[in-house]
Amino acid sequence: MSEMSINYGSDALAAAAASAAAKSVAGNATTDQLMAPREVNAQVTVPNTTDLSSNYMGLPLRNPVVASAGPLAQTVDSIKTLEDAGVGAVVMHSLFEEQLRYESEQIVQQTEEQSESFAEALSYFPVTAIASVGATLSSQYLQVLEDGAKALEIPLIGSLNGASGGTWTAEARRMQDAGASAIELNIYLVPGDTSITGREVEDRHVEILRAVKDVVNIPVAVKLSPYFSSFGEVATSLCDAGADGLVMFNRFLQPDIDVNKREVVSGFELSSPEIGRLPRTWAAVLSGKVKSSLAVSGGVETRDDIVKGLLAGADVVMTTSALVRHGAAYAGRLIDGLRDYLRRSDLTLDQLRGMLAVPSDASASEYERSGYVSAIEKAKRRYGV
Ligand SMILES: Cc1cc2nc3c(=O)[nH]c(=O)nc-3n(C[C@H](O)[C@H](O)[C@H](O)COP(=O)(O)O)c2cc1C
Repeated sequence: MSEMSINYGSDALAAAAASAAAKSVAGNATTDQLMAPREVNAQVTVPNTTDLSSNYMGLPLRNPVVASAGPLAQTVDSIKTLEDAGVGAVVMHSLFEEQLRYESEQIVQQTEEQSESFAEALSYFPVTAIASVGATLSSQYLQVLEDGAKALEIPLIGSLNGASGGTWTAEARRMQDAGASAIELNIYLVPGDTSITGREVEDRHVEILRAVKDVVNIPVAVKLSPYFSSFGEVATSLCDAGADGLVMFNRFLQPDIDVNKREVVSGFELSSPEIGRLPRTWAAVLSGKVKSSLAVSGGVETRDDIVKGLLAGADVVMTTSALVRHGAAYAGRLIDGLRDYLRRSDLTLDQLRGMLAVPSDASASEYERSGYVSAIEKAKRRYGV
């Protein structure tokens, strides 16, 4: 089966992290003017009294704004900066199935080579061979996770990213042992094999989740794609299989084409706010209908995007691009903005959350379809000649 896998590239990650760190230190003057939302420069002074405490997969959070997996959560210092900025939780960048596979293949190969040369010695000290492989990427990751979890008061969530069954899922256990408060399981599966059926793709998601759930007892969220024939049914199956949270959605690498060079360009750019509509649509449909926590991820750039996610019914709202663009400290402004919004609207967070979710007694299909029909009618009146 051929599948494409995402690779954020360590250079790109490092560059994005360095740029965000510089912005954080320099303050708002250096924020990207192109995308700068109004809040960036607005001075919001809000009394720190409005209660924003939230619950995500059973984890108590001081507020519902979560730094999603990305370049700002690669070192203990940068994770700590996110905590200091005020976020409710941090998801670390991902460890990828491919990296874990590669590492275990290397270990086996080196162990075999060494056992041939030092067979006798290894029969007494076999562990030495494994240790001699040196610090692997996963052990570096686990070290940051362990140190980060000790240094933080807020939950630190480990992220595992893969698409097939296999031993890589056991890494979830090591993340738990290192102190992760939860696991975010990113299933990035592009069914490039044209013979794979929809049901097989869906079943694979459930199998991978079960493999992870089997080895941990901390909460597990599944970060997934919206591209299923019946996303609601997939979401429900994952919840039934034990998903404690659903993170909607993964951003798919959709390569572009450079017509001058006649080359495929596969850059991974920062997102724009429009992509937030799809996760909100599904949060509104699923809110109150599944027992897992709901996280919306994608296009959260301003205070209003956070409010919209909560109105749709999300338990938490995640953001990466905005923090890369404006610096980690921008999270504090988003959170102040949310507090200010609640105070001005005279609403509590609980009252706000899910206010615009699809009512539990309504048929979501009819609800969405009637919204669609009336939107088209409105657009025809607006743009028609
Ligand atoms: C530079 C960069 C690196 C990212 N790295 C990861 C990653 O390691 N694992 C993951 O699950 N998502 C990763 N993401 C995706 C984000 O977690 C998030 O889902 C996506 O960017 C949409 O949210 P946003 O619009 O707030 O950026 C990355 C995003 C960016 C921009």
